[in-house]
Amino acid sequence: MKDFLCIMDCPVELLEELLQLSARLKSLYAEGGNESCLSGQTLAMLFEKPSLRTRISFQVAMTDLGGHVIYVKPEDIGGIGKREPVKDIARVLSRYVDGIMARTFEHSTVTELAYFAAVPVINALTDWAHPCQAMADVLTIQEHCQRIEGIKIAFIGDGNNVARSLAYASAKLGMKLTVASPAGYELDAETIEKVNEVSPHCTRQINDPQAAVIDADIIYTDTWVSMGQEDEKQKRRADFVGFQVNAELVKSAPADVKIMHCLPAYRGFEITDDVAESPGSIIFDQAENRLHFQRALLKKLLQK
Ligand code: CP
Ligand code: NVA
Repeated sequence: MKDFLCIMDCPVELLEELLQLSARLKSLYAEGGNESCLSGQTLAMLFEKPSLRTRISFQVAMTDLGGHVIYVKPEDIGGIGKREPVKDIARVLSRYVDGIMARTFEHSTVTELAYFAAVPVINALTDWAHPCQAMADVLTIQEHCQRIEGIKIAFIGDGNNVARSLAYASAKLGMKLTVASPAGYELDAETIEKVNEVSPHCTRQINDPQAAVIDADIIYTDTWVSMGQEDEKQKRRADFVGFQVNAELVKSAPADVKIMHCLPAYRGFEITDDVAESPGSIIFDQAENRLHFQRALLKKLLQK
């Protein structure tokens, strides 16, 4: 596979290999070892949206492997697809760098980059999907639950890019996902149909958060207002009332339930501070694993 755009496009064997490689490199670096397998290589990082975790963890991962990065804001290049077509950006960058990662609004921007680039392209979040996040999440689940197969995730909130990538990961890796959202904010029916074709009953959509968490191993949430939806903030905050991950909701779940959030977390909205800071919260292990998964991904895609 040249690119990493969507978990649904990846063979299960590749996903499993990436998880194993993530764990191996995590141990290696924890013991002070290193692997300079990308020495002299450059990753161009294109961002149409803000980022803390993705930007810094990719930069550290690339540096760990002996390579370096160039961070590009849209205004630096006159906008992605504005000053010049996406297909030209892809072909020009392919002459200079060894890999491209991009965080864009439209998913078609990363697929077009990948189609025209001669070098690997990595999806660092689009409005449609956040595959690096979901794979780091699976790595975190494996570490905390000692298994992936059969793990039940209750995703409370917006049926968004993060929920969709979790549905794809559930289909490919044998987890069970229940998404609980207010009416009008569900995960799209086409995604649910597609994932359930790959793995029957792996994903269901309901509107009741209590019912979603009742037998959950993991309660997962994300912002109600994704990047690019800022104009809808007031309406969304009103529409999502009752979908907060708070102590009362957690009480309906098994006592050893783990709390996950891709971050950034808007405390007091989709999650309360006490739940985010509770002993069951694994949100910072999750954030750390972005680095470990992406180190493995870069090695797998870029190593010559
Ligand atoms: N979770 C995540 O992708 O965070 P950033 O937006 O900070 O990169
Ligand atoms: N759904 C969020 C995820 C942020 C990492 C967004 O797209 O803004």
